[in-house]
Amino acid sequence: MATIKNDAKILEILTSLSKQRGFVFQSSEIYGGLGSTWDYGPLGVELKRNIKNLWWQNIVTARENIVGMDAAILMHPKVWEASGHIENFHDPLVDNKISKKRYRLDHLLEEQTNEVLDSLIQKLNIKKSPEKETLIQSIVSSLINNEGQSGDIIIECGVVDPHTNNIGDWTNTRQFNLMFKTHIGPVSDSSSIAYLRPETAQGIFVNYLNAQSTSRQKLPFGIAQIGKAFRNEITTGNFIFRTREFEQMEMEFFCRLEETNKWLEYWSNERLDWFKSLGINNDKLRLREHGKDELAHYSSACYDIEYKFDFGWSELEGIADRGTFDLDQHMKHSNKKLTYFDQQNNQHFVPAVVEASAGVDRALLTVLADAFTQENINDEIRTVLKLSPKIAPIKVAVFPLMNKNNMPEISKKIMDEIKNAGIACFFDSGGSIGKRYRRQDEAGTPFGITIDHETLEDNSVTLRYRDTMKQERINSNKIVEIIQDLIKK
Ligand code: GAP
Repeated sequence: MATIKNDAKILEILTSLSKQRGFVFQSSEIYGGLGSTWDYGPLGVELKRNIKNLWWQNIVTARENIVGMDAAILMHPKVWEASGHIENFHDPLVDNKISKKRYRLDHLLEEQTNEVLDSLIQKLNIKKSPEKETLIQSIVSSLINNEGQSGDIIIECGVVDPHTNNIGDWTNTRQFNLMFKTHIGPVSDSSSIAYLRPETAQGIFVNYLNAQSTSRQKLPFGIAQIGKAFRNEITTGNFIFRTREFEQMEMEFFCRLEETNKWLEYWSNERLDWFKSLGINNDKLRLREHGKDELAHYSSACYDIEYKFDFGWSELEGIADRGTFDLDQHMKHSNKKLTYFDQQNNQHFVPAVVEASAGVDRALLTVLADAFTQENINDEIRTVLKLSPKIAPIKVAVFPLMNKNNMPEISKKIMDEIKNAGIACFFDSGGSIGKRYRRQDEAGTPFGITIDHETLEDNSVTLRYRDTMKQERINSNKIVEIIQDLIKK
């Protein structure tokens, strides 16, 4: 059995498989779609829910010192002044006056040859770094600092427009704020401006004393939240990797300032282990420390958890030392005291924060990309999503071998038993058994139960394993117990 995983095409194949099997659909498809927004179908919503539940279980339920919350998406506009998002949440853009194409500067640089990058390094007098991401961030920072000459510099260094494959007639770089603006109430003027939140974290910061005092938490403690965030991204694409509406799973861990290094290391390792626990290939996961030029305006140190997609190592989650930046800013802008009271030492102080911020959609894309497998079996291609049973949207499919001899009725009874035990189960009686197995392989269903002639005689059924395609006979009274054990493994 040969595996023929074609890495170069995985995202294209996944986009089409996701549509076919009901994981992800293009948003507003009947109107031609809306740029970089996606809808989750019957299987996608289950997979997403399973990922979020596992995160919540790991972060909140299993720990004594982390509590959850769910803040509103719309917040007071002053929140975004205080957080620095109005002033700093920008992407640098450049336009090619010839092709009229607009690019995010870092993404444009990622497409350039080493010669072009070397020429920029020399021109801008930048120290060469072995990591390409760090190098690109240094070039970006330097071009932003030289905004007035940046267009001339990138032309002189030969930056090519990927759309035309020729050197562009580039504008100077400009900063573009990524927050979506809206208006609250009937009047659309500057006094009614509100923003769709670009991160869920601020809902936690402005509530941290409410959550801490009502749950009687003592330092160190965390507050976790899962929710939608919105960014008017310039460069999108790569399916659901970078979208304008997405979900985050964020946890803000409040601790003493002198302990942030310790907690940064702890949470980086915890979070990496969590991704591994989803069954993702360990060789394709890594922790990468941010270079100084890459750090967000609020952070003094950061690790990214990255996955090796076919388009390169890419961020799934950031674990950042935010220090006291956010609480200090909110105290200043709200004139409210946001200090923590340490009863034991009779001390009031502003706690520091270590944040773990993951994207739900990216986690979902990662498990799909990692699970996608094609195998050549007797000159036929079998497509399988080898999703861990813990996250698979459907755990068991039940198949009557034939639509006669009471097999459908027995199958439905078995399906009800499985469903009543809280296990996601699907009944499929349409088409040949081989075709039904293949459909469930593509949906990532790890186990199949087939009801056949022997079932009528001795109450046994066939249990089929998706990954190995091995089959064994088990007693139908034991199905729930056996499946429960297999999911836990
Ligand atoms: N509160 C910190 C924060 O928001 P971030 O690195 O900007 O940090 C955290 O975002 C995570 O959110 C990213 O690692 C990624 O998984 C996800 N994310 C960010 N922008 C995204 C987008 N446009 N589409 C999908 N996921 C996104």
